[in-house]
Amino acid sequence: MKIGVLVSGRGSNLQALIDAYQSGKIKGSIALVISDNPQAYALERCKRHHVPYQVVLRKDFSSKRDFERRMIDLLKEREVELVVLAGFMRVLSAEFLNAFPMKVINIHPSLIPAFQGLQAQKQAVEYGAKISGCTVHFVSEELDNGPVIIQACVPLLPEDTEESLSERILKFEHKLLPQAVKWISEGRVKVKDRKVIVEEAIYGTLPVNPQLEDMFQI
Ligand code: GRF
Repeated sequence: MKIGVLVSGRGSNLQALIDAYQSGKIKGSIALVISDNPQAYALERCKRHHVPYQVVLRKDFSSKRDFERRMIDLLKEREVELVVLAGFMRVLSAEFLNAFPMKVINIHPSLIPAFQGLQAQKQAVEYGAKISGCTVHFVSEELDNGPVIIQACVPLLPEDTEESLSERILKFEHKLLPQAVKWISEGRVKVKDRKVIVEEAIYGTLPVNPQLEDMFQI
């Protein structure tokens, strides 16, 4: 399966995907990375690993529709079958989502439906939650609310700051995203109503567990 990855910034989740493809853990390829930010560090990662990329700037288009159309065209030209949002800081319209029906996924740094939207880790710290985590989900028109593919939870400690919690969650993000992409590219993911069923998955939700490594199939 050919995937496209949309990014806006650092690209550490993109790096986790690049590593999983390069080591052969996921079959297929990253056919295209699109960034809406010309300064994104994610682009350096593309250059270093010879991953094709394009910068598409919102300001170069008179409407959101045309901006998204350009991204759709680029992704279709590369025969992308799955679109992965990895730190892409824009909300996509129904038109974009309909161009890739149930083939757009996102990684979010909370256990959705808790702490949707921006600064999820800060929200969790300020709320005083005792547990948070991350989620890979299908993207629907409602922000951070589509069917859940996989989640991992991490504890919040009393002394946690937004930064320390983000760091703890990020380690799990780098496991979850390649796992979800691998499952989808192997054709093992089915969606019924809003429930995602993964054939032969050990766990859909991964608890905090010292044996965590054993639970991933990647
Ligand atoms: C991650 O925390 C991801 O969950 C959120 O944006 C951040 C992107 O980080 N959607 P990176 O660019 O992948 O390093």
